[in-house]
Formats: sequence, C-alpha cells, structure tokens
Amino acid sequence: MQAVILVGGEGTRLRPLTFGTPKPMVPIVGVPFLARTLERLYEAGIRDVILPAGYMPQAITEYFGDGSRLDMKITYVIEDEPLGTAGAIKNVEKHITGPFFMMNGDVLTSLDLRAMIAYHQEKGGLGVLHLIKVEDPSSFGCVVHDESGRISQFIEKPPKGTEPTNEINAGTYLLDPKVLDFIPPGRNVSIERETFPRILADGQRLYAYTTEDYWIDVGRPEHYLTVHRDVLSGVMPLEVEPGISGAGAANADCANLIAPVHIGEGTMIAREARVGPNVVLGKNCRIAAGAAIEDSVLWDDVVVEEGATIEETIIASRSTIGANAKIGKGSVIGHDARVEPGTVAPEGSRIGPSAPIGAR
Ligand code: GDD
Ligand code: MG
Repeated sequence: MQAVILVGGEGTRLRPLTFGTPKPMVPIVGVPFLARTLERLYEAGIRDVILPAGYMPQAITEYFGDGSRLDMKITYVIEDEPLGTAGAIKNVEKHITGPFFMMNGDVLTSLDLRAMIAYHQEKGGLGVLHLIKVEDPSSFGCVVHDESGRISQFIEKPPKGTEPTNEINAGTYLLDPKVLDFIPPGRNVSIERETFPRILADGQRLYAYTTEDYWIDVGRPEHYLTVHRDVLSGVMPLEVEPGISGAGAANADCANLIAPVHIGEGTMIAREARVGPNVVLGKNCRIAAGAAIEDSVLWDDVVVEEGATIEETIIASRSTIGANAKIGKGSVIGHDARVEPGTVAPEGSRIGPSAPIGAR
C-alpha cells in the first residue's frame, strides 16, 4: 500500500516559525513532525510514500532524501502553485498504483492504520475517512454519517453554532484510486469542499471511521504546545522517557528542574535557572542563571540570558532572549530573533522574520 502525505501548506497559523521551517519539519520533541508520521506508516508496513510539496520543499527533500535511510521509498512532487488538498493528489496520479492512504501532513494521532484497512475491506465504497469527536468542530470539517457509517454530508468550517455534528474529518483517508476521477486536473481543488461532496452527489459511498484515538492538528501554536505537554506526560505515546529526559539531561543539575523536562544534546542550564514543568529544550541551548522557563518549547541553539522569563512560548532556532526580558504567554518567536535585554513582550507576541527565509 502507498501513502500520500500533503506537505505543501504554508503553515500560516504557525508564523513566524514557518518562515524558517516548513510545517512538516517543525520538531516534535526534537524530531521533525513528518518523521513521526513516517514512523507510523512504517509500523503499519507501508514503505512507499509520495509527498506533494510546494512550500520550502528543499528543507524536506534534504532531510529525508529518497527515504532509504528509513528503509522507505519517498517520491517528491513539487507544485509550482498550491493545488489544494485534492489538486495535490491529482498531480501525483501517475505514481498511484492502488488503494492509498492520504494524510494531512500536520496531524499527530495514535490511529491504528491496519485497523482502518480492515474496516475499508469490510465496508467497500470509494474510501474511508478517519473521524474524531471534538468540542469545537467549527474550525474543522464536519462529517455527517448514518449508523452504518455511510457519509451523507461534509461541511467544511461551519460558522460556530451551526455545526451539524461534533465528528470531524481527522485528516487520514484510505481511498480507492477511482476518487482521482472526481478531481479536475490542472487547478486548485479542495478535497473537503469540492471532491468529497461531488463523490456523494454521484451516489458513491464513503465511510466514516470514528475512533477515540489521541489526535491533534499541530498547525496552531497553542496546539503545538499541547502536543508537547501530552508527549511529556505520556498521554501521546512517543519514545520519550518520563521525568527529566533527553541526551542533555545527563549534564543537567536537577535541583531547579521541574519535571517533565526534555533536554537536547549539548544544552547547558545554569544551576540557578528554573526550568519546567512542560519544557522541551533543543540541542545546544544556553540557559543562564536566574532565567525561568515553563510550558515552553525552545528549538536548537537558543540562548536565554540572565533573569529572562518565558512562559507558554515557542522559540525557533538560534534566537536570543536578552537579560531580564519577559516573554508573555502565547508568544511565538521565529528564527534568528534577538529580543533585547529588558524587553517586556505582551501575551501573544509574534517576534521574528516577516517573510520566508530563502526561496520558496
Ligand atoms: N501539497 C499541498 N498543496 N498540500 C497542501 C496544500 C496544497 O495546496 N494546501 C494544504 N496542504 C496541506 C497542509 O500542509 C496540511 O498538511 C494539509 O494539507 C491540510 O491543510 P490545512 O491548511 O492544515 O487544513 P486545515 O487544518 O485548516 O483543515 C483540514 O484538516 C482538518 C483536520 O486537521 C481539513 O481537511 C479539515 O476538513 C480537517 O478537519
Ligand atoms: Mg491543519
């Protein structure tokens, strides 16, 4: 079986992080997000992966290459212009040889892919869509189905209060290649708004596969922090040890670390700094005396100077937070930023580059 993972989105809601790193390469506890998805496919026996990319594709191709390092085969198809979620799979049609998984490239889930294959074999039809129940369905695609699982309606991002169901499209589909016949070539097409409704209007069957798995779309800063909290606490199982973990933990003096904390290789934390709980530090970071960091994720080579305080914030690689700066909750700091000493950044600040770094 093959999998097509959509990795061409611009990651606008994660800016300015995505001005320097495309969304699939955003790290989840130090490992690019896409590698986490590929691991899951590998575990399900899927080795043949097609990546429709477009935004900063070099970062993806350089890291994963032809996939042989992971014992997989990866084929890249680069879009000159974004083709949308269905246009992107139409554009890779010539590589598709049979039923295939199609996945949004920004979803982290514990979904059992093999069980989904079995469900598809049992139900037939043109495809199965993984659904999840959420409290606020308005920012997702609502999917209505009957008791047999047969889908009758898609409503993408309905206004709050008008949602017909709390079951939403969780961004993993198992599709028959016949679905490709419903997508016009050569233009931007949305699978959620155009193709799925068209398949239903044609009288074809699509089935819902609703599960209670761990599931999150990491495409928003608050969700990105939630994922890290969930991985550190073990709610989302990834190979992260409980407590104080990571290759850099051995050098750390635990007195001022409040678990859970994950410390990347080469990172140094001054004894008088307070770090945790729910903090992930990348590789080669420097945390000076008197600094305090909680509920935050710092990427690689970040410097936090004396007395700086950071709460519920994401900081991309090579940035420096000057002495005694205070970074308010919900802030996002992009690559190579320099926050001057003494700065008070209000809650929800966005600091860093204002356009993509390097060519698209
Ligand atoms: N190749 C390619 N080309 N990929 C794209 C394009 C494109 O033009 N546009 C978006 N993508 C990729 C994104 O990178 C992401 O991995 C995925 O397609 C979905 O796009 P998002 O922009 O993240 O969509 P969303 O989160 O607002 O909504 C989608 O996901 C929800 C679940 O997280 C929809 O599928 C909803 O129905 C669904 O509920
Ligand atoms: Mg998304």
